[in-house]
Amino acid sequence: MSLFRTKPLDPHAHDSGLHRCLTAFDLTLLGIGAIIGAGIFVLTGIAAALKAGPAISLSYILAGFAAMFAALSYAELSASIGGSGSAYNYAYISFGEMIAWIIGWALILEYAMGVATVAVGWAAYVNNLLQALQIPVPHYLTQSPLAGGVMNLSAVAIILALAIILCIGTKHSAILNAVIVFIKLITIGIFIAVAVHHVDIHNWSNFYPYGINGVAQGAAFIFFAYIGFDALSTAAEETIRPQRDVPIGIILSLSICTVIYIIVSLLLTGIANYTTLNVASPVADAMLRIGYPTVAGIISVGAIAGLTTVMLVLYYGLTRILFAISRDGLLPSYFSHLHPKTKTPIKIILVTGLIMAAVAGFVPIEDLAELVNIGTLTAFTFVCGGVIVFRWKHPELPRPFKLPWNPLIPLLGMIFCIYLMVHLSIVTWQRFIIWMVIGLIVYFVYSRRHSALHKL
Ligand code: ALA
Repeated sequence: MSLFRTKPLDPHAHDSGLHRCLTAFDLTLLGIGAIIGAGIFVLTGIAAALKAGPAISLSYILAGFAAMFAALSYAELSASIGGSGSAYNYAYISFGEMIAWIIGWALILEYAMGVATVAVGWAAYVNNLLQALQIPVPHYLTQSPLAGGVMNLSAVAIILALAIILCIGTKHSAILNAVIVFIKLITIGIFIAVAVHHVDIHNWSNFYPYGINGVAQGAAFIFFAYIGFDALSTAAEETIRPQRDVPIGIILSLSICTVIYIIVSLLLTGIANYTTLNVASPVADAMLRIGYPTVAGIISVGAIAGLTTVMLVLYYGLTRILFAISRDGLLPSYFSHLHPKTKTPIKIILVTGLIMAAVAGFVPIEDLAELVNIGTLTAFTFVCGGVIVFRWKHPELPRPFKLPWNPLIPLLGMIFCIYLMVHLSIVTWQRFIIWMVIGLIVYFVYSRRHSALHKL
């Protein structure tokens, strides 16, 4: 049955003919470019105010463990399986078609809703900046209907603008990315340098206002901040020494971001009382409150630049995943059609762009972020499981990056990811189940019969 048929290993997976120009350093910067975004700049404030209080820094440590175990698992699989990677591909080889489809479907949710979430965060910083520059924006055009407005216009506009850029086919430029990553890191550096002198320890006196359960719920919520390193596995074909450099890039970028997150969240709750942080652009807002309007402006500009690269990487990842699924026959070939001139999958880009723009315009950020997290945590759980299954099925395969104490690390990864998932809200679970049921219907009605493997 095609359901459990696995894709054969591709001996040329490390050798696709794409131009190899990326080094471990480039990959680390790409990773940081994809990771640091709406999570730290927006969601930390909401999570501190409503879920964990100042203990949000502990939530970052907890979620960091889940991300690190998953990242290590990604590193082993990307080094041994290769190819343009992604959890979908690993699952096709380790678990078979149906699980691969389920993961692919969860990844579509991760990337599509991820773009929409970051767009809402981006819009918040843009709207703030416009206000600071005294350019009037009507309130009803800055909020979704559920948050008391009519539509989040800037969020819609940025997604449509990115759709056009991706259609034209801008090659992912490592240099541009590096520049933006430095802007992002400098912005964060300025925040840390200023904030460290204004910590009021009274703000930490009620460190666990929502108890330990709040810390876990906060971790499940801000897990969003760690998403993005997985997109690095799709760059394997453009890396000079992928088997060495992809693991380095994944682990290094994630470690740097984890340290930054713990410091920033601790300082943010140290300079502002957690109860005041439930605002659209908390990091800039906190700076305003301690009397640094210029620094607040700089942070807004840095956040806007930084969030743009996150959206680009996620949007690009989404088109790659859809392209791969469609090439395997599980989605109509309509999705893998390349425009003859630009050589980009224009149809996927436009269809997904319109859907994401509609979502970003009308749904509040909290609801979106949780959906992204549940989709990602599902995929990560399977990636960790994939390491165990793959070792058992293909013990002979060379593993240039091999995790010690097998199967401890992937097992811990699964436990941490599932632990975070159970701390997401019931309504997120309901929406996720609906999404997965739709996915299974598509699979049984269409994908199974059109699968390239089924036709072999
Ligand atoms: N980790 C990315 C962010 O926080 C998705 O925006």
